[in-house]
Amino acid sequence: MLRKLHRTSAVILLAFIIAHLTNHLAALQGIETHTTMLRALRIVYRNPIAETALLLAVLLQIVTGSALLYKRRHERRGIWQHVQAWSGITIAAFLLQHVGAVLFGRYVQQLDTNFYFAAAVLQGGLHKYYFFPYYFAGVTSVFVHLGAAVYLRSTPGIARQVVVAALITSGAATAFAILLCLGGMFYEVRLPSGYAFP
Ligand code: HEM
Repeated sequence: MLRKLHRTSAVILLAFIIAHLTNHLAALQGIETHTTMLRALRIVYRNPIAETALLLAVLLQIVTGSALLYKRRHERRGIWQHVQAWSGITIAAFLLQHVGAVLFGRYVQQLDTNFYFAAAVLQGGLHKYYFFPYYFAGVTSVFVHLGAAVYLRSTPGIARQVVVAALITSGAATAFAILLCLGGMFYEVRLPSGYAFP
């Protein structure tokens, strides 16, 4: 039951994550492309039904993941079981801070949580040395967690090695590309007033 719930919320979350990361990768084409895609995607995930389902999936993912972690605490022996546990813990910690920050930005700071909102924490100041690894860990942990699930549930062989290696490599490449772009490596990022990180 616990596993079934964890998988169900994972499917909802994964559909959002694929669209969400593709949206951030679209910023490689420019901020306007990112904004156009963000507006189109928001029609889908910001309507009250979809957003409630998404936020419930986030909550369910964290709760069922923590319960599974506790339930299986004596069963973890192999390296991949530990990789699965630690990448899951990283996703949960990332989601708690990330979704909290987005909701705070929207409802308390009254900001449009757009490209500039995401990029602000990667500009100037000491805080960027926290936020680069934070975003990197958030993105790669999703791919590593999926990789561990594939590894633990498929039969040994070259195909399994290739799929797991491809997942982890593409996770790291995706994170690097998004972060270099938001960090201003490909074009200048000028934050509008109100967006600078305190
Ligand atoms: C470098 C990577 C990422 C950046 C820059 C980023 C940035 C953002 C931004 C700006 C928003 C607000 C979107 C909006 O206003 O429509 C957002 C929302 C969100 N992000 Fe991310 N994100 C990243 C990765 C992730 C990952 C890996 C996950 C999941 C594990 C995730 C989960 C979410 C969720 C659940 C929301 C809330 C959607 C909503 O209800 O509006 N994000 N993110």
